[in-house]
Formats: sequence, C-alpha cells, structure tokens
Amino acid sequence: MRRLVFSGLILSGFAGLGFAAAAALAETPSLSPDAKPLLEDAKARFQALPAIPAVKDPATVARIDLGRRLFFERRVSVDGNVSCSHCHQPDRQAADGLAKAIGVFGRENARNAPSIFNASLNFKQHWRGDRESLEDQAEKSLLGPASFGNPDFAAPVGRLKTIPAYGPAFSAAFPEDKDPINSRNWGAAIAAFERTLLTPSKFDAFLHGDLQALTGAEQAGLRKFIDLGCAACHDGAGVGGNSFQKFGVVVDYWKETGAKEPDKGRADVTKSDADLYVFKVPSLRNVAKTAPYFHDGSVVEFLRAVKIMGKTQLGVDIAEADAEAIVAFLGALSGQVPASYSEPEPYPDAPLPH
Ligand code: HEC
Ligand code: HEC
Repeated sequence: MRRLVFSGLILSGFAGLGFAAAAALAETPSLSPDAKPLLEDAKARFQALPAIPAVKDPATVARIDLGRRLFFERRVSVDGNVSCSHCHQPDRQAADGLAKAIGVFGRENARNAPSIFNASLNFKQHWRGDRESLEDQAEKSLLGPASFGNPDFAAPVGRLKTIPAYGPAFSAAFPEDKDPINSRNWGAAIAAFERTLLTPSKFDAFLHGDLQALTGAEQAGLRKFIDLGCAACHDGAGVGGNSFQKFGVVVDYWKETGAKEPDKGRADVTKSDADLYVFKVPSLRNVAKTAPYFHDGSVVEFLRAVKIMGKTQLGVDIAEADAEAIVAFLGALSGQVPASYSEPEPYPDAPLPH
C-alpha cells in the first residue's frame, strides 16, 4: 500500500516536471505511456506523406526528367540569370532564405518564397491561393515581372526552341503532341517533377506507428500543438496547405510581426472584404529550415514565429517552454532534400547560356 502511494507520488511528480523532464529526455527516444494516445490523436489530424509512385511508363519518366531540367533552366528568363531554382534552392530546402524573393534584374517579389517540397499536397498554390495547381503556377511564373520577366509565352518558348536537345526531350515527354515545346507543356513537365519532391520525416515514421521515432521533447511539442489548437488549421499530410484562414484572427497580425505595410491577402485576389488578410495556411513541413517566416518574411526567429501564431490565431501567450517544445516538434517535420533536386548535367550539345 505504502509502496503504491509512494510510486504514485513519484509518477505525478514526474509528470509535474513537464517540459523540463521531457527536455532532459530529448536525446533518448521515449516510450512514455502517453505515446500511444498521442499517436491516436495525431492520426486523427495528420496523415503520413503518400509514397512516391514508382513510375515505369517511358513518357512519364521522360516528363519528370524534362521537368527537372527545366526547373534548373536559366535561359527562359529575360536576363538569362533566373531559373526556378534561383528562388527554390537545393541547399535551402527549396526556399531562398530571403524575406522577399529577388528575380530578373534584381526585382523584388511582393512575398516570401515558400519551399516547394511537398507543394503537390497544397489545395491551392501561393500564399493567397491565386494559382490553382502546380501546372498553372509553373506556366504563369514565366510571365511574372519579378520572376522570369517575359512579356509573353512566345519569348521563353522561342528561346527553348533554339536549344536543339529540347526538341527530342519534349517529344519523348509529350509523344501525342505535334508541336510539344509550348508553355502548357513547360508547366506540365515541371509539375510532374515537383510531384516527386516529397520529404518524409521522423513524424511520418511516428504516424506509421514507430513510437520511438520522436524524442520526448518532440512528443511534448506535438501534444501542445494539438492541445493549443494549432492543428485546427495546420492539419493533414502537409501539416497545413488545406484551407484559407485569416492571419490575425484575434489580433491584427502586423501589430505582432511589425510588418510596415499590411498585405490584404486574398482580398486583393477575390476583391471581397470577407477575404481581408486571409492567406493559405502554409504547410509546416521543413519549416525549421525555411526562415524567415510568414508571407512577407517579416519574422526571422522561429520561436518568435510560433509565439506570434499563439497570439494572432489563438489569443494565447504560449509559455516559453511550450513554445520550445513546439519548435522541437516542428523540427521533426524536416526531411532530406531529394537526390533529384539538383542541377542535371547539361545536354552535350547545349550552346552556352546567353
Ligand atoms: C524570383 C523568385 C522565384 C522564381 C524564379 C520562382 N519562384 Fe516559385 N515562388 C516564389 C515566390 C515569391 C512565391 C510566393 C508567391 C506568392 O505567394 O505570391 C513562390 C511560390 C511558388 C509555389 C507555391 C508554393 C506554395 O506553398 O504555395 C510553387 C509551387 C513554386 N513557387 C514553384 C516555382 C516554379 C516551378 C518555378 C519555375 C517555373 C518558380 N517557382 C520560380 C519565388 C520564385
Ligand atoms: C486559425 C488558423 C491558424 C491557427 C490556429 C494556427 N495557424 Fe499557423 N498559420 C496560419 C496562417 C494563415 C499562416 C500564414 C500567415 C501568413 O500570411 O504569413 C500561418 C503561418 C504559420 C507559420 C509560418 C510558416 C512559414 O512558412 O512562414 C508557423 C511556424 C505557424 N503558422 C505555426 C503555428 C503554430 C505553432 C500554431 C499554434 C500555436 C499555429 N500556427 C496556429 C493559420 C493558423
């Protein structure tokens, strides 16, 4: 009897240590009794990444291969310096580390460049959801004044046609097309490549049932992430990317981030006041590696971004230790850069870039 009470006290004392104890356990994988219910709660809100489908069909293989090549192709930009990878960089987890991306002739974009890893899971593309699909996004970026800067599709398509190796490469990727080098197929090939860029992480191993995949601190952070209500918006396989929400549900966001000129968000796209300051809830996969944060890159420090979310979206001041646990959990959403996310060898007969 005495022993039972005694061990009960120890247990509750241990639980009371909360984050400090969890932090001490951070390095050792934990099999705490909480891990199983945590997994059940997590599975109700998130899904592991789908497997990358094995592709055998030669046209699809050729399309993915072409998409990779086009992603790293600078000659489609008006100044010859900008490829997709200029702003979605392999050594920066497919983001660029800048508050706002810089395109042709040093022109600044209106918003921050998100990572494109796992972007195929997003229900819409761009912060304001003004691109319907990966295909739509890739095609229209050819005309972005601060990305590739082309006046029309004919200009970049014309330049691609002057590079001899692209003829057979587009034909192999789009065997049904008589004149396959066009902006639509540019978008389709790049999107096919992007769909292969999934980055499984420790969190996926946990969701697949490996209770030791997350450390004690990461599990404590996941628990907070669910209990505080973060997962109400950041959910699904992307841990976000599934809905539009106002940035600043409780407090105007610029009061917390210090942004000088508030971006009206989706209201500028739909012309509806109901969409003022509404943005796509971003996927939080790889977020630990893609500072600075938010649509305007206004916040550099990760911990601060987490606390700002507490204030603006949930009206809570997240305690330091809880915010640190959430940061630890979000760190477990980072995956490896896929091997194919690298510049391919140039075509043997490719002329020098202009
Ligand atoms: C000059 C920098 C720059 C270049 C070049 C660029 N991007 Fe982006 N990309 C951005 C920025 C900035 C955004 C966010 C735009 C917005 O939301 O208004 C973005 C958004 C995206 C998104 C949406 C991601 C999400 O989570 O919503 C995808 C996908 C994407 N880019 C793919 C590409 C592809 C493919 C190319 C080449 C065809 C490309 N980008 C070229 C800067 C760039
Ligand atoms: C009501 C919906 C909602 C809730 C709840 C919410 N978020 Fe967000 N979150 C968003 C939206 C919308 C954005 C994009 C804001 C913007 O425009 O930059 C965002 C952005 C973020 C970012 C920045 C991502 C990036 O790539 O820049 C982080 C980190 C984040 N949220 C974490 C959290 C955490 C942690 C919680 C819980 C404390 C939380 N969020 C709760 C909607 C929500």
